[in-house]
Amino acid sequence: MGMTPQPLLELRDLTTVFPTRRGLVRAVDGLSFQLHEGEKLGIVGESGSGKSVTLLSILRLVPHPGQIVSGEVRFRDGNLLTKSAREMRQIRGRDMAMIFQDPMTTLNPAFLVGEQVRESLRTHGIVPRSNSPFSRLFDRRRKAAEYQCVWEAMADVGIPVPRQSARRYPHQFSGGMQQRALTAIALACEPHVLLADEPTTALDVTIQAQILALLDKINQEHGTAIVLVTHNLAVVAEFCQSIIVMYAGQLMEKGTTDQVIQDPMHPYTRGLLRCLPRIDARREKISPIPGLVPDLADLPPGCPFSPRCDVAMPECSQLEAIPLRELPDGRLVRCLLH
Ligand SMILES: Nc1ncnc2c1ncn2[C@@H]1O[C@H](COP(=O)(O)OP(=O)(O)OP(=O)(O)O)[C@@H](O)[C@H]1O
Ligand SMILES: [Mg+2]
Repeated sequence: MGMTPQPLLELRDLTTVFPTRRGLVRAVDGLSFQLHEGEKLGIVGESGSGKSVTLLSILRLVPHPGQIVSGEVRFRDGNLLTKSAREMRQIRGRDMAMIFQDPMTTLNPAFLVGEQVRESLRTHGIVPRSNSPFSRLFDRRRKAAEYQCVWEAMADVGIPVPRQSARRYPHQFSGGMQQRALTAIALACEPHVLLADEPTTALDVTIQAQILALLDKINQEHGTAIVLVTHNLAVVAEFCQSIIVMYAGQLMEKGTTDQVIQDPMHPYTRGLLRCLPRIDARREKISPIPGLVPDLADLPPGCPFSPRCDVAMPECSQLEAIPLRELPDGRLVRCLLH
């Protein structure tokens, strides 16, 4: 084995909580993982497992009243959790970008799509800001040059007829086109890390494949590291090199895509895989995981998955917390069976 390269991004024991009327919810609970240059990492888990809050915590965009209470987010030798608000704004603009889960909450319905792409390009210095004291003629020329950049950025993400599309409002776009516009805005700064939260969930399968192909292209051409969040294991299996499985804010299993998909170790991962329809097997049954997604304000002791686990042992719900184990092949599993 050679030397392990420095990770580009590393979470160390990150915990983010939400105070609720029913008690403190640990949306992200002691999460640690590394992301390397050019890596494509998937995070999967059922609804409410803490995937979005993880990404929002990395960028320090956790909505009120949520709070990061412990841990570190290491990025290039610094801890993002101790940076000033100004430094964070720079990092968000320059180094890391996020595609949010719901396009319409990110796109401003009141502005033309082209204007929003232009604003993003401007913020990131790709096109000059309009504060020059020069003549109207010069202004007009600069605006034309800016729009040239906007159309190119839109064409890059596969928005057809960019000149006309730029003059539409977000609601005049289909879901797939909104997702593309968001991607164009996120990529305007040519980030080193792209955090993509369910970028394809609302889309039909052909558009989904196109968006994934687009992210793949960006990863290959620019070496952009990508964290892809989805509840769809089939999507991560196709797209990612490594997979993190989350449950109740905790990392339950991490490994390479082959390890996790071919030979899942955690009963929860096995359960998620059994939910996948298989095109190759003719009559295999799809069996959902029994029980409900847990109530984070009222978790059982020990393993949060134990009430739904078909191989749970008495010890699983007795211990304080189940330790994360590293197996000889390098993967991580939080389960007493291993
Ligand atoms: N604004 C909020 N106020 C209170 N609690 C919140 C808030 N946002 C998230 N949470 C809590 O954090 C938990 C994790 O939420 P998160 O959005 O990260 O889930 P997710 O894995 O992204 O789910 P989904 O697949 O549905 O997007 C939720 O179950 C909820 O209890
Ligand atoms: Mg989410």
